[in-house]
Amino acid sequence: MSAAPVIEPSAEKTQIREGAFGNARALTCRECGHEVELGPHYACSECFGPLEIAYDFPQLTREEIEAGPRNIWRYKALLPVPTDIETSPNTEPGFTRLLEARNLAAELGLARLWVKDDSTNPTNSFKDRVVACALSAAREFGSKVFACPSTGNLANAVAAAGARAGMKTVVFIPSNLEQPKQVNSAVFTDSLVAVEGNYDDVNKLASEIAGEEDGWAFVNVNVRPYYAEGSKTLGYEIAEQLGWRLPDQIVIPVASGSQLTKVHKAFQELVGLGLVEDRPYKVFGAQAAGCSPVSVAYKAGVDAIRPVKPDTIAKSLAIGNPADGIYVLDVCRQTGGAVEDVTDDEVREAIVLLARTEGIFTETAGGTTVGVLKKLVESGQLDPELETVVINTGHGLKTLDAVSGSVGPVATIAPSYAAFAATGLA
Ligand SMILES: Cc1ncc(COP(=O)(O)O)c(C=O)c1O
Ligand SMILES: [Zn+2]
Repeated sequence: MSAAPVIEPSAEKTQIREGAFGNARALTCRECGHEVELGPHYACSECFGPLEIAYDFPQLTREEIEAGPRNIWRYKALLPVPTDIETSPNTEPGFTRLLEARNLAAELGLARLWVKDDSTNPTNSFKDRVVACALSAAREFGSKVFACPSTGNLANAVAAAGARAGMKTVVFIPSNLEQPKQVNSAVFTDSLVAVEGNYDDVNKLASEIAGEEDGWAFVNVNVRPYYAEGSKTLGYEIAEQLGWRLPDQIVIPVASGSQLTKVHKAFQELVGLGLVEDRPYKVFGAQAAGCSPVSVAYKAGVDAIRPVKPDTIAKSLAIGNPADGIYVLDVCRQTGGAVEDVTDDEVREAIVLLARTEGIFTETAGGTTVGVLKKLVESGQLDPELETVVINTGHGLKTLDAVSGSVGPVATIAPSYAAFAATGLA
């Protein structure tokens, strides 16, 4: 776990309005179980462990959920958001398509495969989900500035959501980030800050600023417990879209590891609420070989994650010191899954494979995930007879450079039929 400095709650107690966090009851420590009141806190005062949201869930039916809006707010009863959340401007992410991938399944020798395509969210990645929840928390805490350290996608989502909410946003990215991700943030905010360093340096800087400045909501630092809950909606949607059941196996990319652990949490909550049948399922984590601290620990059979210096084209997954790494190990081991990694060349090949089999253009994170899916099948770690879901977390237009060297026109011809016929394509 990365040791972020603990921000002491300010002397003035944050006034929280009644029902501001829906059915959320408190914050609990993931390490020691210590419980604290809801507020802008993220680290346990007893053991410095990360805090997460605990709830008193009501009885909830599938019908009540299905009657909700076609976005993540249909699950608002399971999130730390107010009951009237739909009334405040947000980017309304979620309810993205779950596609049966018959061509890719045939190519890989799988009986049944689905792609959960989160590249169609408002800023083209799953990060719109987490940011929508973080924005709600920032509003309730009366924050002045909406901010984040980011590997790119989060910056896009924060800048867009902040713009729509009329909040000042400041987003921090590594200065070597892909150009499209920089433009995708800068178009929404005049406060994009490029930091000379890698994501882990940017994250450390954000923790320092959060400690120095009052009224800043860093979505993945001091409002992280609220933010992280947004990732559960990916898990809820998969279960609902499968007809209220859980898949046998699921492959999820890992950077900080938050998304993977929250999909598992979502599945567990649905089982606990009696909304889906309890059954075994395996969770697999996907990393790029150039930044695979969790995969390395998994393969070595150890619990400690040794931080690495990232060197991969999968920049959105380039977190060398993942905050939730140890919890990813737990989930994958407990469920009988695994954590695997693929090389940059395998990432590129997988981007093209998904595009040419299913018509889905994914970014390098999705290339990593599909590449890992392929590797897991080939190594026999994933059972080809079982139903599998793979998550595409972001759009390929954000990382064009990754494949622009390997795809392009097959021929450049004069505008004449004879020239076309000479290509042999007719
Ligand atoms: C496209 C994409 N996929 C996956 C991830 C990994 O998410 P997490 O940090 O929750 O593991 C990220 C993180 O930035 C991302 O941008
Ligand atoms: Zn604790």
